Amino acid sequence: MEDAQRGESGAAGEALLEAREVIKAFGGHRAVNGLTFTLKRGAITGLIGPNGAGKTTLFNCLAGALKPDGGRITLAGHDITGAAPGRIFAAGLARTFQIPRPFPALSVLENVMLAPRGQLGERPWANWLRPAAVAAEERRTREAAMHWLGFVGLTRLAEQPARVLSGGQRKLLELARVMVAQPQLVLLDEPGAGVNPALLEQIVDMIARLNREQGVSFLVIEHNMDLVAGLCNPVLVMAEGRLLTQGKPDVVLADPRVVEAYLGEAA
Ligand SMILES: Nc1ncnc2c1ncn2[C@@H]1O[C@H](COP(=O)(O)OP(=O)(O)O)[C@@H](O)[C@H]1O
Ligand SMILES: [Mg+2]
Repeated sequence: MEDAQRGESGAAGEALLEAREVIKAFGGHRAVNGLTFTLKRGAITGLIGPNGAGKTTLFNCLAGALKPDGGRITLAGHDITGAAPGRIFAAGLARTFQIPRPFPALSVLENVMLAPRGQLGERPWANWLRPAAVAAEERRTREAAMHWLGFVGLTRLAEQPARVLSGGQRKLLELARVMVAQPQLVLLDEPGAGVNPALLEQIVDMIARLNREQGVSFLVIEHNMDLVAGLCNPVLVMAEGRLLTQGKPDVVLADPRVVEAYLGEAA
Protein backbone atom coordinates (compact mmCIF):
# COMPACT_ATOMS: atom_id res chain seq x y z
CA MET A 1 0.00 0.00 0.00
CA GLU A 2 2.31 2.73 -1.21
CA ASP A 3 -0.68 4.95 -1.99
CA ALA A 4 -0.65 8.40 -0.49
CA GLN A 5 -2.90 8.77 2.51
CA ARG A 6 -6.40 9.88 1.65
CA GLY A 7 -7.21 13.55 1.50
CA GLU A 8 -4.66 16.30 1.37
CA SER A 9 -1.38 15.03 2.69
CA GLY A 10 0.63 17.74 4.36
CA ALA A 11 3.94 18.12 6.06
CA ALA A 12 4.63 16.34 9.32
CA GLY A 13 4.38 18.71 12.25
CA GLU A 14 1.63 20.94 10.84
CA ALA A 15 -1.78 21.03 12.52
CA LEU A 16 -3.83 18.03 11.43
CA LEU A 17 -6.78 18.23 13.81
CA GLU A 18 -7.81 21.31 15.75
CA ALA A 19 -10.45 21.30 18.47
CA ARG A 20 -11.59 24.67 19.80
CA GLU A 21 -13.74 25.05 22.92
CA VAL A 22 -15.54 21.75 22.30
CA ILE A 23 -18.50 21.14 24.62
CA LYS A 24 -20.65 18.03 25.04
CA ALA A 25 -23.22 17.82 27.84
CA PHE A 26 -25.40 14.97 29.06
CA GLY A 27 -28.32 16.46 30.93
CA GLY A 28 -26.74 19.28 32.89
CA HIS A 29 -23.32 17.64 33.09
CA ARG A 30 -20.61 18.75 30.69
CA ALA A 31 -18.62 15.59 29.98
CA VAL A 32 -16.44 17.68 27.63
CA ASN A 33 -16.25 21.21 28.95
CA GLY A 34 -14.63 23.67 26.57
CA LEU A 35 -11.73 21.58 25.37
CA THR A 36 -9.09 23.10 23.10
CA PHE A 37 -6.10 21.29 21.61
CA THR A 38 -4.20 20.66 18.38
CA LEU A 39 -2.94 17.35 17.00
CA LYS A 40 0.12 17.53 14.80
CA ARG A 41 0.39 15.54 11.63
CA GLY A 42 2.78 12.63 12.04
CA ALA A 43 2.46 12.45 15.83
CA ILE A 44 1.26 9.62 18.05
CA THR A 45 -0.51 11.67 20.70
CA GLY A 46 -1.57 10.07 23.98
CA LEU A 47 -4.81 10.94 25.77
CA ILE A 48 -4.93 10.06 29.44
CA GLY A 49 -7.05 10.99 32.42
CA PRO A 50 -9.05 9.32 35.18
CA ASN A 51 -12.26 7.41 34.49
CA GLY A 52 -15.08 9.78 33.65
CA ALA A 53 -12.71 12.54 32.45
CA GLY A 54 -14.54 12.66 29.10
CA LYS A 55 -12.02 10.87 26.86
CA THR A 56 -14.47 8.55 25.10
CA THR A 57 -17.04 11.34 24.78
CA LEU A 58 -14.37 13.45 23.10
CA PHE A 59 -13.62 10.57 20.66
CA ASN A 60 -17.34 10.34 19.89
CA CYS A 61 -17.44 14.07 19.13
CA LEU A 62 -14.35 13.91 16.90
CA ALA A 63 -15.58 10.84 14.98
CA GLY A 64 -19.15 12.11 14.56
CA ALA A 65 -20.94 9.60 16.80
CA LEU A 66 -22.02 12.53 18.99
CA LYS A 67 -22.70 16.11 17.90
CA PRO A 68 -20.88 18.62 20.10
CA ASP A 69 -23.05 21.23 21.82
CA GLY A 70 -20.45 23.87 21.17
CA GLY A 71 -17.05 24.53 19.69
CA ARG A 72 -15.40 23.73 16.41
CA ILE A 73 -13.38 20.79 15.08
CA THR A 74 -11.30 20.95 11.89
CA LEU A 75 -9.45 18.15 10.10
CA ALA A 76 -6.72 19.29 7.71
CA GLY A 77 -8.37 22.69 7.72
CA HIS A 78 -11.88 21.41 6.92
CA ASP A 79 -14.70 21.97 9.39
CA ILE A 80 -16.03 18.56 10.47
CA THR A 81 -17.98 19.81 13.52
CA GLY A 82 -21.18 17.77 13.84
CA ALA A 83 -20.65 15.99 10.50
CA ALA A 84 -21.99 12.45 10.01
CA PRO A 85 -19.60 9.62 10.96
CA GLY A 86 -19.40 8.39 7.36
CA ARG A 87 -18.36 11.81 6.11
CA ILE A 88 -15.69 12.14 8.78
CA PHE A 89 -14.42 8.63 8.02
CA ALA A 90 -14.28 9.48 4.31
CA ALA A 91 -12.36 12.65 5.18
CA GLY A 92 -9.64 10.48 6.72
CA LEU A 93 -10.47 10.19 10.42
CA ALA A 94 -11.07 6.62 11.61
CA ARG A 95 -11.64 5.27 15.10
CA THR A 96 -11.50 1.93 16.83
CA PHE A 97 -13.73 0.91 19.71
CA GLN A 98 -12.80 0.13 23.30
CA ILE A 99 -14.76 -3.12 22.89
CA PRO A 100 -14.75 -4.15 19.23
CA ARG A 101 -17.92 -5.86 18.01
CA PRO A 102 -17.38 -7.37 14.57
CA PHE A 103 -20.36 -8.88 12.75
CA PRO A 104 -20.06 -12.44 14.14
CA ALA A 105 -21.51 -14.35 11.18
CA LEU A 106 -19.50 -12.52 8.53
CA SER A 107 -16.01 -13.73 7.75
CA VAL A 108 -12.99 -11.88 9.09
CA LEU A 109 -12.26 -10.70 5.53
CA GLU A 110 -15.85 -9.48 5.01
CA ASN A 111 -15.67 -7.53 8.27
CA VAL A 112 -12.50 -5.81 7.10
CA MET A 113 -14.08 -5.03 3.72
CA LEU A 114 -17.14 -3.41 5.26
CA ALA A 115 -17.75 0.29 5.15
CA PRO A 116 -17.72 1.81 8.63
CA ARG A 117 -20.63 1.08 10.93
CA GLY A 118 -23.75 2.90 9.85
CA GLN A 119 -22.52 3.00 6.27
CA LEU A 120 -23.78 -0.39 5.09
CA GLY A 121 -25.47 0.03 1.74
CA GLU A 122 -24.92 3.77 1.87
CA ARG A 123 -22.90 4.08 -1.27
CA PRO A 124 -25.20 6.07 -3.55
CA TRP A 125 -22.30 6.88 -5.83
CA ALA A 126 -21.83 3.17 -6.60
CA ASN A 127 -25.10 3.25 -8.57
CA TRP A 128 -23.59 5.76 -10.93
CA LEU A 129 -20.65 3.55 -11.81
CA ARG A 130 -20.63 0.89 -14.49
CA PRO A 131 -20.77 -2.69 -13.15
CA ALA A 132 -17.21 -3.32 -14.31
CA ALA A 133 -16.03 -0.33 -12.34
CA VAL A 134 -17.93 -1.58 -9.29
CA ALA A 135 -16.28 -5.00 -9.66
CA ALA A 136 -12.85 -3.38 -9.97
CA GLU A 137 -13.54 -1.34 -6.86
CA GLU A 138 -14.58 -4.52 -4.99
CA ARG A 139 -11.39 -6.23 -6.10
CA ARG A 140 -9.26 -3.33 -4.90
CA THR A 141 -11.06 -3.33 -1.54
CA ARG A 142 -10.51 -7.10 -1.22
CA GLU A 143 -6.81 -6.75 -2.05
CA ALA A 144 -6.43 -3.94 0.46
CA ALA A 145 -8.31 -5.97 3.09
CA MET A 146 -6.02 -8.99 2.51
CA HIS A 147 -2.98 -6.74 2.67
CA TRP A 148 -3.99 -5.32 6.05
CA LEU A 149 -5.05 -8.72 7.38
CA GLY A 150 -1.52 -9.82 6.53
CA PHE A 151 -0.11 -6.79 8.30
CA VAL A 152 -1.95 -7.64 11.54
CA GLY A 153 -1.22 -11.37 11.20
CA LEU A 154 -4.76 -12.62 10.61
CA THR A 155 -4.38 -13.97 7.07
CA ARG A 156 -4.99 -17.57 8.05
CA LEU A 157 -8.29 -16.62 9.71
CA ALA A 158 -9.57 -14.53 6.76
CA GLU A 159 -12.34 -16.97 5.77
CA GLN A 160 -13.38 -17.84 9.35
CA PRO A 161 -16.49 -16.27 10.87
CA ALA A 162 -15.49 -13.33 13.08
CA ARG A 163 -17.11 -15.00 16.11
CA VAL A 164 -14.10 -17.36 16.41
CA LEU A 165 -11.76 -14.42 17.15
CA SER A 166 -10.42 -13.82 20.65
CA GLY A 167 -10.71 -10.37 22.23
CA GLY A 168 -7.14 -9.57 21.22
CA GLN A 169 -7.68 -10.77 17.66
CA ARG A 170 -10.76 -8.50 17.45
CA LYS A 171 -8.50 -5.55 18.21
CA LEU A 172 -6.26 -6.64 15.32
CA LEU A 173 -9.29 -6.92 13.04
CA GLU A 174 -10.30 -3.37 14.02
CA LEU A 175 -6.86 -2.09 13.09
CA ALA A 176 -7.01 -3.82 9.68
CA ARG A 177 -10.55 -2.51 9.12
CA VAL A 178 -9.63 1.13 9.68
CA MET A 179 -6.41 0.86 7.63
CA VAL A 180 -8.34 -0.19 4.51
CA ALA A 181 -9.77 3.33 4.46
CA GLN A 182 -6.24 4.85 4.28
CA PRO A 183 -6.90 7.22 7.18
CA GLN A 184 -4.80 10.28 7.98
CA LEU A 185 -5.71 10.09 11.66
CA VAL A 186 -6.73 7.07 13.73
CA LEU A 187 -8.32 7.35 17.16
CA LEU A 188 -7.58 4.28 19.30
CA ASP A 189 -9.70 3.76 22.42
CA GLU A 190 -7.67 1.69 24.87
CA PRO A 191 -5.82 -0.58 22.42
CA GLY A 192 -4.17 -2.29 25.39
CA ALA A 193 -7.32 -3.07 27.40
CA GLY A 194 -7.86 -6.80 27.87
CA VAL A 195 -4.90 -7.72 25.68
CA ASN A 196 -2.18 -10.11 26.88
CA PRO A 197 1.36 -8.66 27.18
CA ALA A 198 2.75 -10.48 24.12
CA LEU A 199 -0.04 -9.26 21.85
CA LEU A 200 0.16 -5.80 23.38
CA GLU A 201 3.80 -5.60 22.35
CA GLN A 202 2.79 -6.55 18.78
CA ILE A 203 0.01 -3.95 18.68
CA VAL A 204 2.35 -1.23 19.92
CA ASP A 205 4.85 -2.25 17.25
CA MET A 206 2.16 -2.11 14.56
CA ILE A 207 1.04 1.37 15.60
CA ALA A 208 4.64 2.60 15.53
CA ARG A 209 5.17 1.06 12.07
CA LEU A 210 1.96 2.54 10.64
CA ASN A 211 3.11 5.90 11.94
CA ARG A 212 6.64 5.59 10.62
CA GLU A 213 6.02 3.85 7.29
CA GLN A 214 2.55 5.10 6.31
CA GLY A 215 2.63 8.50 7.98
CA VAL A 216 -0.57 7.77 9.90
CA SER A 217 -1.18 10.04 12.88
CA PHE A 218 -2.75 8.62 16.04
CA LEU A 219 -4.63 9.78 19.10
CA VAL A 220 -4.46 7.00 21.70
CA ILE A 221 -6.56 6.70 24.86
CA GLU A 222 -4.72 4.35 27.18
CA HIS A 223 -4.49 3.54 30.89
CA ASN A 224 -1.27 1.55 30.60
CA MET A 225 1.29 4.26 31.41
CA ASP A 226 4.24 2.18 30.19
CA LEU A 227 2.55 1.96 26.82
CA VAL A 228 1.85 5.70 26.82
CA ALA A 229 5.41 6.59 27.82
CA GLY A 230 6.91 4.27 25.21
CA LEU A 231 4.65 5.12 22.27
CA CYS A 232 3.13 8.59 22.66
CA ASN A 233 4.57 12.08 22.38
CA PRO A 234 3.01 14.45 23.25
CA VAL A 235 0.53 13.35 25.89
CA LEU A 236 -2.70 15.25 26.60
CA VAL A 237 -4.23 14.95 30.05
CA MET A 238 -7.98 15.37 30.53
CA ALA A 239 -9.75 15.84 33.84
CA GLU A 240 -13.39 16.78 34.35
CA GLY A 241 -13.93 17.52 30.69
CA ARG A 242 -10.99 19.90 30.38
CA LEU A 243 -7.37 19.81 29.33
CA LEU A 244 -5.34 19.61 32.54
CA THR A 245 -1.95 19.74 30.86
CA GLN A 246 -0.01 18.47 27.84
CA GLY A 247 3.60 17.78 26.99
CA LYS A 248 6.31 15.13 26.86
CA PRO A 249 5.27 11.88 28.53
CA ASP A 250 7.94 11.90 31.26
CA VAL A 251 7.12 15.48 32.23
CA VAL A 252 3.35 14.99 32.15
CA LEU A 253 3.40 11.70 34.07
CA ALA A 254 5.52 13.27 36.84
CA ASP A 255 3.26 16.36 37.09
CA PRO A 256 1.75 16.55 40.60
CA ARG A 257 -1.58 17.78 39.15
CA VAL A 258 -1.78 14.65 37.01
CA VAL A 259 -0.92 12.39 39.93
CA GLU A 260 -3.57 14.18 41.99
CA ALA A 261 -6.24 13.78 39.29
CA TYR A 262 -5.65 10.01 39.32
CA LEU A 263 -5.64 9.88 43.13
CA GLY A 264 -9.00 11.67 43.10
CA GLU A 265 -10.32 8.82 41.00
CA ALA A 266 -9.36 6.25 43.63
CA ALA A 267 -10.91 8.26 46.47
N1 LIG B 1 -24.26 8.52 26.80
C1 LIG B 1 -24.08 9.11 27.99
N2 LIG B 1 -25.14 9.57 28.71
C2 LIG B 1 -24.96 10.18 29.89
N3 LIG B 1 -23.76 10.40 30.46
C3 LIG B 1 -22.67 9.97 29.81
C4 LIG B 1 -22.77 9.30 28.54
N4 LIG B 1 -21.51 8.99 28.12
C5 LIG B 1 -20.68 9.44 29.08
N5 LIG B 1 -21.37 10.02 30.09
C6 LIG B 1 -20.78 10.65 31.28
O1 LIG B 1 -19.83 11.60 30.83
C7 LIG B 1 -18.67 11.57 31.65
C8 LIG B 1 -17.45 11.23 30.82
O2 LIG B 1 -17.53 9.86 30.39
P1 LIG B 1 -16.49 9.24 29.36
O3 LIG B 1 -16.37 10.14 28.20
O4 LIG B 1 -16.92 7.85 29.11
O5 LIG B 1 -15.15 9.28 30.22
P2 LIG B 1 -13.78 8.46 30.04
O6 LIG B 1 -13.78 7.82 28.69
O7 LIG B 1 -12.70 9.47 30.22
O8 LIG B 1 -13.76 7.44 31.14
C9 LIG B 1 -18.95 10.58 32.76
O9 LIG B 1 -19.46 11.29 33.86
C10 LIG B 1 -20.01 9.68 32.14
O10 LIG B 1 -20.83 9.13 33.14
MG1 LIG C 1 -13.56 5.71 28.06
